[in-house]
Amino acid sequence: MPRQIRLNAFMMNCVGHLAPGQWTGPADNSIGYLDTDYWVDLAKVLERGLFDGLFLGDVTGIYDVFGASPAAAVRTAAQVPMNDPVPLIPLMAHATKSLGFGVTVSVAYEAPYLLARRFTTLDHLTKGRVAWNIVTSYLQSGARSLGETQLRAHDERYDRADEFLEVCYKLWEGSWADGAVKRDAARGIYADPEQVRPIVHKGRYFQSEGIFQCEPSPQRTPLLFQAGGSTRGTQFAAKHAECIFVGAPTRNGLRKSVQAIRAALEEAERAPDSALLFAMCTVIVDETAQRAQARYEAYRQRASYEGALALLSGWTGIDLSRYKPEDTLHYVDTDAGQSALASFSKLDPDREWTVRDAVEFVTIGGRGAVIVGDAAQVADELQSLVEETGIDGFNLAWVESPRTFHDVVDYLVPELQRRGAYKTSYEEGTLREKLLGQGAHLEAPHVGARLRFDSGAAQ
Ligand SMILES: Cc1cc2nc3c(=O)[nH]c(=O)nc-3n(C[C@H](O)[C@H](O)[C@H](O)COP(=O)(O)O)c2cc1C
Repeated sequence: MPRQIRLNAFMMNCVGHLAPGQWTGPADNSIGYLDTDYWVDLAKVLERGLFDGLFLGDVTGIYDVFGASPAAAVRTAAQVPMNDPVPLIPLMAHATKSLGFGVTVSVAYEAPYLLARRFTTLDHLTKGRVAWNIVTSYLQSGARSLGETQLRAHDERYDRADEFLEVCYKLWEGSWADGAVKRDAARGIYADPEQVRPIVHKGRYFQSEGIFQCEPSPQRTPLLFQAGGSTRGTQFAAKHAECIFVGAPTRNGLRKSVQAIRAALEEAERAPDSALLFAMCTVIVDETAQRAQARYEAYRQRASYEGALALLSGWTGIDLSRYKPEDTLHYVDTDAGQSALASFSKLDPDREWTVRDAVEFVTIGGRGAVIVGDAAQVADELQSLVEETGIDGFNLAWVESPRTFHDVVDYLVPELQRRGAYKTSYEEGTLREKLLGQGAHLEAPHVGARLRFDSGAAQ
């Protein structure tokens, strides 16, 4: 039996996510991000293709590192303009039954209580189909827009995020007992006050005291995703995440990243396979290999080098306007994201990247691999990546929206199913049950499960 491949669609509430310049193409409809129909139709297509989830990225701030100016990003629509992803979820949930919805929300700029309440609301409205991608934010522009003089230091962002999560777990897991909600109309008792208790958190970064105002949702804690790839980011992911995104441009780099994450999980006293790993990847698949290749060539022509410069400068915190295209990229620690630069420098010692190589690579699919071919060729490549690197699935970016996902659903999914490498129906239950094959709630030894109402843990 071949290993099962899981698929997520990687979207953002904007025109140009990881393929700057493609919005100029005649068949692209990414401008539809402003319409409800665009999102509802997309969710239905993904559910037809039995995708595990539609995953919404988000950033706070704009990409103004390149040339110390937002001009390149604004001109090319490189993740700007961008809307809030959260309001899209109830719309799409209403139109689907089984598709999961991952959403990125940063812990940098709001109180844990408000974020916890929003996710509980989403988990109720989706009937347990929501996941949270925990990010700590890497753009100085976002920090300034939110009234801070500068971004917190890289590793401290994760220390603070650890405490943020602790408060969330207390709220989600510890304030209401499982049987607290009675809905006993005859006695006029909605919930038993004896089974609802205040949390008390007095920490270095956060204070919170009182009862959580939401009743427990199907999953309580949303399914937790994370994508930090630095040493501290991987450690954070290994402590909290149930699914982890990996962005590595080469097979060797992917293999090394997977090994590092599995080792970090063990160090965090979790089973090395207790989190599902999704590799970022872009698939260009068509009826024939020639047609797929021709489309790839057209995409390359249309790709915006300037937009990719803006993105890569923002991810790495390095102003690439100061470099010549033929300069080699070397790793340096910065206070932006550290793994983006590592992907194009130290991650794969067999591969040296010039600025031009890396920027051209990023124009289609960010720092994930691009796979082009007919369904059989793409399926071969995905299966071999899964077998060889030990990842569990792919977080698929798009080039032309919504076409990329239509092609995956119409060509690739049936091929994977024929090979027995892809499900033919959804599992029952919440997103956590579907993906991890466990109960709806966090389970020991996960750190959040220790803070359950009935765990005896002091709140
Ligand atoms: C597949 C993938 C998706 C990501 N999505 C987001 C996102 O939506 N928003 C965000 O702020 N960061 C996102 N990131 C970045 C990470 O969360 C993290 O900030 C970044 O990798 C830097 O952290 P590090 O220095 O620990 O690697 C993503 C990374 C990957 C690999």
